[in-house]
Amino acid sequence: MCGIVGYVGTRGSVEVLLGGLKRLEYRGYDSAGVAVIDDAGHLDTRKHAGKLGILSADLDASPLTDGQTGIGHTRWATHGGPTDENAHPHLGDGGKLALIHNGIIENFSELKTELLASGHEFSSETDSEVAALLVGDAFRETGDLTTAMLQVVNRLEGAFTLLAVHADQPHVVVGARRNSPLVIGLGEGENFLGSDVAAFVEYTHRAMEIGQDQLVTIRPDSVDVVDFAGQPVTPSTFEVNWDASAAEKGGWSSFMAKEISEEPEAVAKTILGRVHDGLVDLPEVVALGEGALASIDRVVIIACGTAAYAGMVGKYAIEKWARVPVDVELAHEFRYREPVLSPNTLVVSISQSGETMDTLMAVKYAKEQGARTLSICNTQGATIPRESDAVVYTHAGPEVAVASTKAFVAQITAIYLLGLQLGQVRGTLSPEQARELVVELQAVPEKLASVLATGERIAELAHWMADTRSVLFLGRHVGYPVALEGALKLKELAYIHAEGFAAGELKHGPIALIEPGQVVFVIVPSPRDPSSLHAKVVSNIQEIRARGARVIAIAEEGDVAVLPHADEVIRIPLASPFFEPLLAVVPLHIFGMELAAAKGLDVDQPRNLAKSVTVE
Ligand code: M6R
Repeated sequence: MCGIVGYVGTRGSVEVLLGGLKRLEYRGYDSAGVAVIDDAGHLDTRKHAGKLGILSADLDASPLTDGQTGIGHTRWATHGGPTDENAHPHLGDGGKLALIHNGIIENFSELKTELLASGHEFSSETDSEVAALLVGDAFRETGDLTTAMLQVVNRLEGAFTLLAVHADQPHVVVGARRNSPLVIGLGEGENFLGSDVAAFVEYTHRAMEIGQDQLVTIRPDSVDVVDFAGQPVTPSTFEVNWDASAAEKGGWSSFMAKEISEEPEAVAKTILGRVHDGLVDLPEVVALGEGALASIDRVVIIACGTAAYAGMVGKYAIEKWARVPVDVELAHEFRYREPVLSPNTLVVSISQSGETMDTLMAVKYAKEQGARTLSICNTQGATIPRESDAVVYTHAGPEVAVASTKAFVAQITAIYLLGLQLGQVRGTLSPEQARELVVELQAVPEKLASVLATGERIAELAHWMADTRSVLFLGRHVGYPVALEGALKLKELAYIHAEGFAAGELKHGPIALIEPGQVVFVIVPSPRDPSSLHAKVVSNIQEIRARGARVIAIAEEGDVAVLPHADEVIRIPLASPFFEPLLAVVPLHIFGMELAAAKGLDVDQPRNLAKSVTVE
């Protein structure tokens, strides 16, 4: 939540800040603001409620006096509504200091009481303004922004990334982080700070990680990192492996349309380099410790939202292939119920952003309890992989649209690779069986490309249904999490009531929802599947059809048995059961996007949401 960017160097900072904020806007879009120190050492700010475009238009119409040092913020409101006053930056030291914040300062009301008692006035309802006033006061005493920030961060409780600039130190930006994201971009004669590398990837691919409870001071020619005790730290550097163009729309109508079109590539790139001699080879798991995979007796998958549905798909596969029990839990539920863990438990977190606070807290808890932790993550330099023993990166490329699409298929791919490796190591899969499954996985990208070709028909259906008030989704086995994912996309994108159900659960209650005209998507298992789930799902379709439902079936090519029972059939290529979810989800992603578009909604930035949920 909230996007943060800082710059010091030789360029005009307004352009750098606005460009960075544009690429970070997916993190929050309730309001936006910048603060710049001009060449004469004056600090000026501009901020507005609403999307970044409002701020940009205002800056075009009436530019700030530009300078080479600045900070910028795009907000997802927590304390105080999305108003001009509550937008960041907030000011301290009589307007000479500007500060931006991502996170929640939990002890802000005590600090506010103290500041009010000492004569300060507040101009916003935010928790962030206490930090601006405190750092401003500390600067007045110490005359140094780094020292001032160090004093203040040690008084704050909660989660925060803070960036500050002060007019009396014009070529300095100071940042601090605790449980909220911050990365450093290293340039030549210029340096950057950002919530993630998207903030500065246009200017540099060299980045530096900054750990928990650390503080960074950037100047045009230097980067200094210390911990909150003031002790120097040597952070590690990494190269950003994607270009700014990857985070541009590139001619597509929306980021989501582009990202759905990239689903085949997301799967292919996640497999790339991880198969040798036909078998899965994930060198990353070595970091879990010698023999760790052979000795684990339980897997717990923790994640939120779409990532949790990818985890549910993974449960079916890991249990089948590696014969080890797997639990899947929403990270926020896992964290606060004192789960039983042991050194032989492998806790696998799944997160596109690598910054979801609920998931991060669950990972930290699992580590404290002695479990081994592995993260599946799409974002280099993010906090969750840093806090985990091992990381398997998905290589979906930057995902900008708030609703997750290509990350979902990449996450399933990564968890399948892990499941296959577990099966290989534990001997529950013979090399022949493992090789067969690997071949199926490698065939998915091409099959996905053919599913994308059904997009036009799905768009037509969505446009006919623009007035639909409720849609249900049914699936069984690995089709069940796909049903949940289809429903989530519709809720978050098109703001209509949508529910996903396990088809077997229908007669235990949800069938009461069926009335004439109710649209129901059904993910139909392959008729070739020996478990006879196909017949059971076809029976479920008949049951709802008999009560007036309009059925849209997603079924594999050649499945004629489903034809008489469905109003519409969307075809997916033949695949064995575990590979169907990767294919069946694509029409649902397209449907959610097209229905939202048909209703004239913002597909990339749905209301009330932010892509990266960095508060609990
Ligand atoms: O970055 P993460 O994968 O940890 O995010 C998890 C969820 O917040 C995310 O999947 C969310 O549910 C999306 N809005 C789904 O489209």
